[in-house]
Amino acid sequence: MKLRVAAVQIAPKLGDLEENIVKTCTFIEKAVEQGARLIVLPELSNSGYNFKNRQQALECSEPIPNGPTIKEWEKLARRHSVWIIGGINERYEDKLYNSAVILGPEGYVGKYRKLHLFAKEKLIFQPGDLQLEVIRTKDFAFGVMICFDWAFPEVARVLTLKGAEIVCHPANLVLPYGQKAMRIRALENHIFTITANRVGKEEDLTFTGQSQIADVKGEVLAKGSKSKEEVIIAKINIEEARDKKITPYNDLIKDRRPEFYSLLTARIR
Ligand code: ACM
Repeated sequence: MKLRVAAVQIAPKLGDLEENIVKTCTFIEKAVEQGARLIVLPELSNSGYNFKNRQQALECSEPIPNGPTIKEWEKLARRHSVWIIGGINERYEDKLYNSAVILGPEGYVGKYRKLHLFAKEKLIFQPGDLQLEVIRTKDFAFGVMICFDWAFPEVARVLTLKGAEIVCHPANLVLPYGQKAMRIRALENHIFTITANRVGKEEDLTFTGQSQIADVKGEVLAKGSKSKEEVIIAKINIEEARDKKITPYNDLIKDRRPEFYSLLTARIR
């Protein structure tokens, strides 16, 4: 089964929900026009990233699934019969989460809350509290992780063990090695990864762009520029992610030795 997938690379405007709705919807339409059926948008696409304080973040947050951005994205997912995964500054009761929403041809499907908060995000957001889930569509299965989750290989591994063939990765990368690491996540799990990174600058932070779609061998199928807003597209053969053999003798999943990995589930301080 061949599938066209897209990463949307944009610079959301800090604190401006309305402008960000217009921009994200415009770029989703561009991805649809190019035939994408699975479309990934950056982390915190509704709000921007580098908040002055929690109050500013609160003012441009929204509930999932009834927030204004999600409602507009949901209309597009239904109208075009596509999957949309995008980062949302989520308000839940009096808490904020750095989340991603998952929308499909039949509307809202679920959300993921970033497990590993980066730097000053810890002053704004609650750490994620939901299990890693895999969404199974008729033709492919995918999971979601957000930006700095790249530094924890357990995340992509758990998604793979739960059946993900594609990992969707909304990002606001600022360190220079997230993209490299995602190629390795793809290679070591024999999955496809779609990193939708943002561009632009907010105060002291410059976001690194270079959104990428990586294949099961860690090769880059499509790559964005460092600073332009754009859509990148790749055609992937999903069957490649189902075969975990890297030699006739080696299967990346079946050859695991979990009886020697017990420390992986221990908390070390
Ligand atoms: C990041 O996790 N936004 C760097």
